[in-house]
Amino acid sequence: MNVLTTDVLTEAVTAATLAPSMHNTQPWLFRREGDAIDLHADYRRELPVADPLHRAVRISCGAALFNLRLGLAVLGCPMEVRLMPEPGRPEILARLTPASPRPPTPAERELYAAIPRRHTSREPFLDTQVPAEHRHRLSQAAAAEHCWLMLTDDPAEVRRIAAILRAADRELTSDPAYQAEMRAWTSRSPGSLDGIPRSAAGPAAQAYELLMRRDFGGAPHQSGRDYETEPLIGILGAHGDLPSDEVRAGQALQHVLLTATVLGLSAGMYSQPMDAPGARDALWRELRWRGSPQMLLRLGYGLPAPASPRRPAADVIIP
Ligand SMILES: Cc1cc2nc3c(=O)[nH]c(=O)nc-3n(C[C@H](O)[C@H](O)[C@H](O)COP(=O)(O)O)c2cc1C
Repeated sequence: MNVLTTDVLTEAVTAATLAPSMHNTQPWLFRREGDAIDLHADYRRELPVADPLHRAVRISCGAALFNLRLGLAVLGCPMEVRLMPEPGRPEILARLTPASPRPPTPAERELYAAIPRRHTSREPFLDTQVPAEHRHRLSQAAAAEHCWLMLTDDPAEVRRIAAILRAADRELTSDPAYQAEMRAWTSRSPGSLDGIPRSAAGPAAQAYELLMRRDFGGAPHQSGRDYETEPLIGILGAHGDLPSDEVRAGQALQHVLLTATVLGLSAGMYSQPMDAPGARDALWRELRWRGSPQMLLRLGYGLPAPASPRRPAADVIIP
């Protein structure tokens, strides 16, 4: 096994920072403690209006944790993960400690290589069906992280879920404070290392779209291609609804998104139903109380999406 050198730590943390996060807030910090690494939530980067309970912070950090685990394994320092290791310190979301030496698996190498290619897509996808075998691989990726992924393109089911999404979006956008918070993260100055740049915002959301997107201030839709009439959507969920389940869901989200990248699929996220309590309950009822819903996804074949900026590893490693 390799030792956890500063170079290995920097490379693995750089991979961790490429994880998705709500409004690209990047709410994570990493502290090295000897051979161990702690992942901290950075509440200075919270979204007090959209995410008062810090669910999105924990999901984003969980996604970063998946990349970190993967990076360390591929770089020859596999680690065991314990979630919420100090009950009195809920900001420490995970502690990674050295595991028995082993070579990285081919699947780990493949997923790790996909990290820099994965970007959130807010553009229309082709009306091409995703084969059953690929759907199975996506569900398996969620199951590997002790979570679940329900995929559907059944028109009636998609319409019911789209109605819940639309109601959630309407409720959220009626709050001027929510709008102001979203604007603050989508109108960063050029060269900013966080927030959603105009280039990645996707087209301006249109009221007639089946799946209501958050409006990140993109230019009017001009490509001539409409959004899919029968999109493939996924609901990713955990088995419980505790903070540790949200960190688990974040890891599952990233495992699913990287698997999608490996399979040549694009993915977009719609988290409005998770931020509006009434809508989340409606979604949960729609799923017949299967488990706690944590993210709504749209998957399909699309053009490569633009990258959003990141802060460097040095900014997120606590000295
Ligand atoms: C918890 C969470 C919630 C998100 N919600 C949305 C959303 O509602 N709409 C959207 O377009 N993207 C959403 N995203 C994607 C982020 O905006 C995206 O990850 C971030 O801007 C960084 O861009 P990248 O994923 O292309 O690296 C969400 C991501 C996370 C982790």
